Parts: sequence; C-alpha cells; structure tokens
Amino acid sequence: MNAWIFVVLAALAAGASAQSCSCETMKWATCDGNPCTCYVLVGNNERQNLNCSTMVPKCFLMKAEMYRARKGLDTRSGGKPVESAFVDNDGIYDPECESDGKFKAKQCNNTEECWCVNSAGVRRTDKEDKNIKCEKLVETYWVRLQLTHKKLSTPVKNTDIKTAIADAINKRYGGFNSALIEKVEYIPDERLVLVDVKKTIGDRQNDLTQMAYYMEKDVKVLPLFKSQDKFAPVVEGQKMEMENILVYYVDEEAPTFTMKNLTGGIIAVIVVVVLAVIAGLLIVFFATRRNRKYNKAQQREMDNM
Ligand SMILES: *[C@@H]1O[C@H](CO)[C@@H](O)[C@H](O)[C@H]1NC(C)=O
Ligand SMILES: *[C@@H]1O[C@H](CO)[C@@H](O)[C@H](O)[C@H]1NC(C)=O
Repeated sequence: MNAWIFVVLAALAAGASAQSCSCETMKWATCDGNPCTCYVLVGNNERQNLNCSTMVPKCFLMKAEMYRARKGLDTRSGGKPVESAFVDNDGIYDPECESDGKFKAKQCNNTEECWCVNSAGVRRTDKEDKNIKCEKLVETYWVRLQLTHKKLSTPVKNTDIKTAIADAINKRYGGFNSALIEKVEYIPDERLVLVDVKKTIGDRQNDLTQMAYYMEKDVKVLPLFKSQDKFAPVVEGQKMEMENILVYYVDEEAPTFTMKNLTGGIIAVIVVVVLAVIAGLLIVFFATRRNRKYNKAQQREMDNM
C-alpha cells in the first residue's frame, strides 16, 4: 500500500518537473533533465540545443522547419484546414548556421547553386555556382513590417497606436527594445499598420531579424511560441488581430542582384537606401552651388557700388 502511494507521488513529482522543464519560445522543442535542457531536431539524429530563456535564432528555426517539412511533419501545429490547403514556402531553405545561430554569409540549400544572404538569412545576390564569394554577413539594420489588421468592431483613431504596437512587440518578443521602433504609421481605410524598426548602422547588439521572423509566423501561420496566443496589440481597449504581413529588409549595404531576378517574392529587399543617399548628395551639391553663385553675384554688385 505504502509502496503504491510512493509510486503515485513519484509519478506526480516527475510530471510536475517535466512540466516546468519546457521551452516557452519554441513549440517544437523537446526538453528534459535537471538542469532542464531543450533541443530541436534539425536533421536525422541531429540536435540543435536551444536557450529557451530568449527567442531562438532564425537560422536554427529555419533549419528545424526544413527538417520537419522533409519528414512530412507538420510545421503548423493546427494542421491543414482542408486537404487542398498549402503553405507558402517561398524564402525557406535549409540554412547553414554558425554555432551562435547567425547565418553563414554563403548559403546553398544543399545544392550546387549558392548565394549570399544578409543577417536575416534573406538572399541578397544572384544565385551562382558554389564558388561564389560572400566576404561577410551584411547586417540588416532596418525592417519594415507592413501589417494588415482584421476588421475592428469600432474604428480606432491614429492616436496611441504607436505605443500600443511598441508595447505589444516588447512584451511578446523577448523584451524587444521598443526604442528601436522608429515609426508607426496607420492607414485606417486600408487597415494598414506600417512599423519601421531601425537600429543605428554598426549596431551589433540588437537583432531585428528574430523578432521579425517570430512575427511573420505569428501572423501568417501559427505562433512559434509554446503558447498559441495570438499577436494582438490592444488599441483603445480593442484587440487588433493581424491577418497579413509583408516584411521588407534594408541592409547596411545595398544588395547586388540584377533586376531581372527581382521578381516579387513574399520577401523583398529594398534598394532605396543608396538611391536616397545619392539624391541627398545631389540636393546638397546643387544647393551649395546655387548659394555660391548667389554670393558671387552679390559680391559683384557690392564691388560695382
Ligand atoms: C540564455 O539567454 C539569457 C538571456 O539572453 C542569458 O542571460 C543566458 O546566459 C543564456 N544562457 C546560456 C546557457 O547561454
Ligand atoms: C531549398 O530546397 C528545397 C528542397 O530541397 C526546396 O523546396 C526549396 O524551395 C529550396 N529553397 C530555395 C530558396 O532555393
């Protein structure tokens, strides 16, 4: 009798400790042991250990997702709504990661065709053969999240939407530094929320790509978090659920692919930075030239007098 009670208690204790040993930031993780360690499978018998007290690097997440897709495991925990449903796998490949979770600058997707990526793992050159040189991993310092929200029962005003969005992002994505949320623009008629997240060029402390990837999954598929709560900023007392997202990446150096290959994917890389800089320089150049002419003319008039 006593032995039975002991067995039951032991089972309960084991259950309790197994429950506390889990991974909040990655629903596919397997965890056990004391201290608790977690991993995801990224290949046959190939484990990637995770630090579940922070968000998981995008490179590891993509590896895990590719592995699950290859194994025919569901990459969405809700499953298909109907048999004809399909997922948008554009942009997904089996990446090579550094041990700290950064992308290797050169990626080949297990093929002979290779390309260079930015710190978000997004292709920024043409695809070439495997001799392509990618000198370094170019940092993405600016992402624009173009969100569309579901219809609201009462329309909201533009007023405190920035605070609401910044709070929601900070709370959900591992205490994301909301000071980096530079601008939030709201176009009620189109249900469009534009969020510009930008860090200073050269900043290697903050990472924008994890947050953007978790959010992309939150909106397009299902959350990567263990908890399947939706991303829904509270604006003027209403939950604003999102129904679509488009992510633009801006790198510290403009990408080098030829325009013909720039067919619109779900992921686009903006090339505007360089153009904006050139335009700025031209304006400064012409402005100073005009000033100089003006000053000279004035000088001559003075001399004449
Ligand atoms: C896990 O991440 C947290 C938060 O960034 C950090 O403080 C901790 O040292 C990390 N743990 C390991 C084992 O790397
Ligand atoms: C990578 O390879 C997989 C199959 O091996 C394919 O489905 C996917 O489209 C490829 N991705 C890219 C970006 O080439």
